[in-house]
This record gives sequence, structure tokens and C-alpha cells, in this order.
Amino acid sequence: MSLTVLAPAKINLHLEVLGLRPDGYHELAMVMQSLDLADSLHFTPTADGAITLECDRPDLSTGPDNLIVKAAQMLRARAGLPELGVHIALSKRIPIGAGLAGGSSDGAATLVGLNALWGCGFPAADLHAMALALGSDMPFCLAGGTRLCFGRGEVMEPALAATLPPVSPRSGSDDPAGFSPGPAPASPPYGVLLIKHLEASVSTPWAFARCREQRGDFYLETEADFEQRRQALRQGPLVASLAGGEPLPRLRNDLQAVVEAEVTSVREGLALLRRAPEALALAMSGSGPSLFALFADAEGAEGARSALAENLAAAGFEAWCCRCIASGASLAVNGISA
Ligand code: C5P
Repeated sequence: MSLTVLAPAKINLHLEVLGLRPDGYHELAMVMQSLDLADSLHFTPTADGAITLECDRPDLSTGPDNLIVKAAQMLRARAGLPELGVHIALSKRIPIGAGLAGGSSDGAATLVGLNALWGCGFPAADLHAMALALGSDMPFCLAGGTRLCFGRGEVMEPALAATLPPVSPRSGSDDPAGFSPGPAPASPPYGVLLIKHLEASVSTPWAFARCREQRGDFYLETEADFEQRRQALRQGPLVASLAGGEPLPRLRNDLQAVVEAEVTSVREGLALLRRAPEALALAMSGSGPSLFALFADAEGAEGARSALAENLAAAGFEAWCCRCIASGASLAVNGISA
């Protein structure tokens, strides 16, 4: 038996750096959104105890540094079954090193795929813990949808205001680890135009380190202050807009100011997106360098891509039109083949 898992990209509709954590990571308040731009991973069991990876992008490492290989090794070690083997074929559609969590989503898809293929039977909480050990974005990539993400990114709540409890302080929650974030609400209807400069790349540790240099003196320090910002996000205009009805506010990504100041193509790309007809909002995703604009629907995004096509190509940008979706890494429909 073999099976196929889809690994969706994500964008950040909100990324707020609150402060530093005792573990050295940043305490974040985010709204993450899965997209229908997805990689596809095909898993075939092998009897030789080897974990092997092939990819249709020759510039991507298929060695032990790839999060797919790391996730497979971690799952196999936790299962205590070193004799298990798998060959994984990765079909890459998400741009690499773009702030779209492509690598993290591939890792999350590996946990989902091998948990099923090898019959490990790990519950969601265990997969969540393994995902977090591999990367801060990976727990969201498992859950997917439209979610408020706190902590390093792993403490998740659905983003729709109507589905939130009136007050949900983290410390008093029944689910402090956030691994059972509940069903994802329906995805927002927006069409998304995503662009990335062909040659640009941004290191996530660099972007966070630069943010700390520039803003560290103004970081919040107490849990009470963090919680106040989380509550402001829960009750703020973005979540109200995602719940329906309200116009989208200006999007916030604290890493954008840091990256925009030093990466010319990010400034150029944002200037191009500002000229997109009928864009509702725009921002950088994660630590960049990919950028996105939201439109009322998929046709709006297609129209903007056509209108900007010449300028985008001349400035060295690739562009994708996609939609918001309500799921994370998941078995492809009819993905199980005998
Ligand atoms: O967790 P992950 O390996 O994806 O994070 C990459 C880097 O980004 C970390 O080593 C850290 O420098 C930075 N980071 C952070 N705070 C977070 C997430 C990531 O400082 N919440």
C-alpha cells in the first residue's frame, strides 16, 4: 500500500512580535491561513529499513537536513520500530525559502502520512509535540485553516470571533499545549495573489535577530502584557473581518519593517502590489520574502495578476493565484492505493 499527502502553504494575515521567551524564541501573536498552493508527498513502504527521499526540484536537499527526513526519523524512533522503511517522492509546488512554511508543511505531511502508512497510531497530541520539536510553524501546518497562533506559533485557536470563548487566558485553559485546536471554521473567501522574487531569500533566524536588535528595548516582558495583546487580536478588526462582514483592516507583520528596510526586492514587490486593482490588503508572509495581496474572490486575484503581469516579470517576480482553505496536511482524496 502507498499513500499521498498534500502539504499546503500558509501565509500570515497577522504577525506580531510580543517579546522574548525564556527558551530564546520570540513570543508571537499571529493569524495563520492555509492556501490551496500545496506540495504533494507520495509514500511507499520499503522492506530495507531505509528512509529515502526524491524531489522534482534538484536545488532542494534530500539529505538528513530536510525536514521530511527529520520527521520520518523522529516518528520511527518514537514508534521504536527501526526496521520500518519508506521511499518518499516529493512534488514541490510551494516556493522554497519563501516564508510560506513549505518545508514545515512537508514535515507535517510526513508525520501524517507515516503515522497512517506505518500504522503507528499516534494521537494528535503526540504528532503536535513531534511537530513542535521540528519547527515552530509545523504544528499549525498539521492543523491548518484560519487560526490564531500564539507562543512560538504552536498554541492555536480558531480565528473566527463567533467561535471563540469570551475570555480564554492561556494559563487557565483546559488545553494549554494547544494541540486540540478544535475544528477549523470555513475558510475566508479571499483570492490571494502571491509573489516572490526569483532570487530573493531571507533567513528566518536573521529576521528575528534583526527585529530583536531594533525593537528589543521595547519588547513586552510579562505574561499579563502578552495576554493583553492576544486579547486585543482576538477582539480586533482582523478577526471581526474574518468572522464576516467587516472590511479588512491594514495587515500587520512586525518582521516586514525589518526585512523591507534591507531587501530591495521586498520594497519593490510591495510597491507593485499596492498598484494591484481592487486589492483589499497586502503584506509580507512570515519572515519573507514572499508577499501577498488579498482580493474579494479568486477572480480578483487573477485579474490583478494579469494587470501586473508585465511589471512583475520585468522586476523578476514569480506569481501565483490561490485560495484560502480550511485544512492542513491531509491525505489526498483517493490517496490510498493498493
Ligand atoms: O522553530 P524554527 O526552527 O522554525 O525557527 C527558526 C528560527 O526562527 C529560530 O531559530 C529563531 O531564531 C527564530 N524564531 C524565533 N521565535 C519564534 C520562531 C522562530 O525567534 N517564535
